[in-house]
Amino acid sequence: MQQIKRSMKRILQYDDETSEPLQPQSRVPIESKLASYSAKISNSATPKKENSMSSPDALMASASAACSSLVNSIQRIGETEKDSGVQGSFSAAKYRESQYISREVHDYSLKLGFNESQPLKKLRLRTDKHKDAVMMAHPTEVALFSVILPAMNAKKAIEVGVYTGYTTMAIAQALGVGGTVVALDIINEYCEIGRPYWKEAGVDDRIDLRIGLAQESLQKMIDNNESDTYDFAFIDADKANYKTYYEMLLKLIRKNGIIAIDNVLWDGEVVNEYITDETTAALREISAYVYLDNRVEHVLLPFADGVTLVRKN
Ligand SMILES: C[S@@+](CC[C@H](N)C(=O)[O-])C[C@H]1O[C@@H](n2cnc3c(N)ncnc32)[C@H](O)[C@@H]1O
Repeated sequence: MQQIKRSMKRILQYDDETSEPLQPQSRVPIESKLASYSAKISNSATPKKENSMSSPDALMASASAACSSLVNSIQRIGETEKDSGVQGSFSAAKYRESQYISREVHDYSLKLGFNESQPLKKLRLRTDKHKDAVMMAHPTEVALFSVILPAMNAKKAIEVGVYTGYTTMAIAQALGVGGTVVALDIINEYCEIGRPYWKEAGVDDRIDLRIGLAQESLQKMIDNNESDTYDFAFIDADKANYKTYYEMLLKLIRKNGIIAIDNVLWDGEVVNEYITDETTAALREISAYVYLDNRVEHVLLPFADGVTLVRKN
């Protein structure tokens, strides 16, 4: 349900044909879209207990509740688009209906919580228009990296999951002159969207983009005797492989190096016992695994979509 709500927010904010953001006045006839998405929700295959939400009435009640919440979200997002700051963009607003932080607190943290370089903001707003923009990290998360990386004098980083390179660029900026981030993704087309912005920011020479399966790229780095040499790593790709990436990155980072793991709360779904899909299960598994791992110290930060920071002992 949360995933459908999430994609509903995105679809309703953007023109289906052009991926351009819809103007508030273009969003008025949303009832027809809501009706078709109600049907989609009713047919959702999200596993549930036998006696829970199984009747058509219960499903429609659930869909109706989701729709009212969605209408509220759209109205609020429309209101904030009158502002010129970060709150008006999809990337900044996408967790405003989060289950674990109130909308008011979320907006407050956006308003005062960080400063963002102009090139980085331009890439974020460009990515907002892309059909898969929901994959981009929250701006407060990259701001966290920009605080931590210089403080630990990080110069070598690895990113697993680049997409348009919003987080890649933030990491490259935080590494400073002489820094390098090895950026791993399987879809070059996504990464090419970010390249002009990396150049504009003057950090393209700090980004070593490697297209291919991340697992294979990481294995090559281990085979190349690069273990214990990286300062920072960010895991934000296919969730089913999170544990594999974690183990490989734990080899590659140095003592007191940090691994950041994204999406560990998955829009709150990790605590919903009725949600048992492979992705949610993998996210629960990595959190339990890190919790029991005596090779590291860690903290799960309940902000953005949930970020766990792990320090190697
Ligand atoms: C959530 S997005 C990354 C978002 C990015 N870190 C940001 O915040 O803008 C996940 C990315 O992982 C990539 N990906 C998925 N499976 C992968 C794999 N096995 N190896 C490498 N990249 C993979 C996808 O192509 C996608 O670009």
